[in-house]
Order: sequence, then structure tokens, then C-alpha cells
Amino acid sequence: MRIHRIFSAAALASLALVAASPAAATRPATTTQQPVPALAGAPAEDPGLRVAADRAGLRIGTAVDTTALAADAPYREATAHEFNSVTPENVMKWQLVEPVQGTYDWAAADTLVDFARANGQKVRGHTLVWHSQNPSWLTEDAFTPAELRALLRKHIFDEVSHFKGRVYHWDVTNEIFNDDGTWRDTIWLRNLGPGYVADAFRWAHQADPRAKLYLNDYNNEGVNAKSDAYYRLVKELKAQRVPVHGYGVQGHLAVQYGVPGDTLTNLRRFEALGLESALTEVDVRMPLPTDPIKVQAQVSGFNTLLQACLLARRCVSYTLWGFTDRYSWVPSVFSGQGSATPLDENLVRKPAYYALRDTLTLAGR
Ligand code: G3I
Repeated sequence: MRIHRIFSAAALASLALVAASPAAATRPATTTQQPVPALAGAPAEDPGLRVAADRAGLRIGTAVDTTALAADAPYREATAHEFNSVTPENVMKWQLVEPVQGTYDWAAADTLVDFARANGQKVRGHTLVWHSQNPSWLTEDAFTPAELRALLRKHIFDEVSHFKGRVYHWDVTNEIFNDDGTWRDTIWLRNLGPGYVADAFRWAHQADPRAKLYLNDYNNEGVNAKSDAYYRLVKELKAQRVPVHGYGVQGHLAVQYGVPGDTLTNLRRFEALGLESALTEVDVRMPLPTDPIKVQAQVSGFNTLLQACLLARRCVSYTLWGFTDRYSWVPSVFSGQGSATPLDENLVRKPAYYALRDTLTLAGR
């Protein structure tokens, strides 16, 4: 259990929509300590999530929409107040950092990393190797396999080097398997074969030996065909002495599909292989409109994953894929579904928020 507290006092009147808020914010002692403004009108005893998470020794994180971070003061203050870890929702993806071949644009990602540093937060890097959100010059041009391998190597070296010492976890690979445990058909698998995964981890490790390197995927919470594929892969990577450190479980749940009850069993078997783990993108969507049973099921979804993380020995962080429905990715992808985060579009806290905070508080006692 770690307790490191800093108290700050600047009130922001623009935060009246936030249902409750603090006069205090915590930071890990290992990071730069600067004041976080208190939220206006909040009861002094309201600690937010990160106070409880610090006490429990867990990183509590959120994906950050950097456009909202720049434009929306209540969103910005809640990001600083509630979380001790942040993940860029989009701005570290290849398409955004190298839109034109050879021309990097780190500005948005650097701004988030600076924000995190100023607020005593860690940064999870997301993501280096994916089948989606790649630049069109990469996917539309006809590169040879040798050229693609060189481009991937350069991308990983350049990006990890740029953020060296400022990003503590990298989602090195994202979504490499299908749900049935077969390899996903991607530009990387087609051209380089499955060995691209080992290469990617080795290159990332060379670029920043201190960053923890993660495999990351969805529908891999419990023991199933996809997590079995990861289990076999990790054994192979370990046998080849590939520097793989973490098993990332995104945790995109939906109340209509239920909650995998064997998440803890699954995390433990990866720990037994020597890996740490993290819940990396948790949200729990539902068919709209909401009703009390769906809301209760959502509480169960968020809480079951958090409990599994807290009960596991080496689950080091629990990250929400956005904390407010104001900016959630869900409605644009799943028609008729939404309400997937712990705060509504007005930043008002839902039962899921209080359940997460209660569980973190219990864990910190
Ligand atoms: O920024 C452009 C904007 O200029 C343009 O006008 C607009 C038109 O569609 O698109 C904007 O880009 C969108 C981007 O989000 C930023 O909002 C993309 O179209 C859209 O595809 C992109 O979606 C992201 C998605 O990954 C891409 O696959 C979501 O925000 C992001 O939440 C989502 O995150 C993924 C994780 O990386 C991996 N795991 C699943 C998770 C949810 O899909």
C-alpha cells in the first residue's frame, strides 16, 4: 500500500457539472509533483478514484481524447483529478504520428505526455503494431516484405525512442489473434509471418529497455480460444527469450453478453508464465435506453474486472476507455448502444463510478 498526498487549492468554477470532487489529489512519489486544481463546489472529503487507487497500489487510468483535453476544461480537470495513469486514445497510433512518410507529428502525443507529467500520471503507450489506423502511404503502396519489415522496425525505434523514459507501458502489439485463436490476417502476418511479434518486442526493448512491453487484445478476459492462443504464444516467446512483460486485457464488455467470470483464473496463468497484467480499455456498454437492471449489470461488469485485477498478484493497472459518455467511441460503432462509461455526458457520476471507488477504497485499507 502506498500513500503519497499533495493538497492543492485552486478552484475552478467551470466544474460545477462534476457531481463531486476533491480538495486533495495524490501523486506517486516517483513522479514530478505539481499541484492539481481542486474541483469547484466539491466536498473536501471527496477523494476521486486516484486517491483510493494510490492507497491500493494500483494505477487507475483513462484513455484520453486529446482534442477534448484541449477544449473542455471540466474534462481536463476530471482527467487530472480522477486518474494516475493516462493512455492516448488515438494520438500515438501510426496514422497520427507519421501521416506522411518520413514526417513525424508528435505534437498531440507530446502535449498529453506533458500533461501527465504535470499531474503526476504515468503514460501507457498505445499502440505500436496494429492492423488498424495505419497511414495510407503504408497500406496502399506496394512495399515488399523486406521493405515493410524495415518500415516497421524504423517506426518502432523512432516512436519508442521519442518517448523513451516518458512511457512506462507500451501496447507493442494490438489484436493479433481472432476470437477462435487463429492469427488475424493483417499486413504484418501476410508479409512477415508470425515472427513479426518477436521482432516488434525486441526492437521496442532495444529502444527503451525500461518500458514494460505488452500484448493487448479484446475478448481475452477469461479462459477461451483467444487467451489460449496468447498463452501458447507467451510460452514460445519466453522460450526464445523475447522481452515480453505484460498481458493486456482491454475489457470492452456489453451487459447483454455478460461478464467473464474467470478473468482472475486467466490473469493468474499468465502471471505463472512470469508476466504482469493490466486491464487496458475497460468500458461496459448497453443497449439504449438504460434501465435499472442494465445499470446494475454495468456495475457488475466494471467491478468484476477490477476485483480480478486486485486479487491477481501482478495486475498493475486498470484503465477505462474514456470516463465520460460525452466522448465515448461506443455509439458511433455500436448503433443503438452506449452509456458505456462511469460518468454520463454531463460528467455526473453513475453507480459504476461509486462501485469502482468503493472497491478501490476497500483494497487500500
Ligand atoms: O480525427 C478524424 C477527423 O479529422 C475526421 O473528421 C473524422 C471523420 O470520421 O475521423 C476522425 O478520426 C477518428 C478517430 O477515432 C478520432 O476521433 C476515426 O475516424 C475513428 O476511426 C477513430 O476511432 C478510434 C478507433 O480506435 C479506431 O479503430 C476510436 O476513437 C478509439 O476509441 C478506438 O480505440 C480502440 C483501441 O485503439 C484498440 N481497442 C479497441 C478500441 C475501440 O475500438
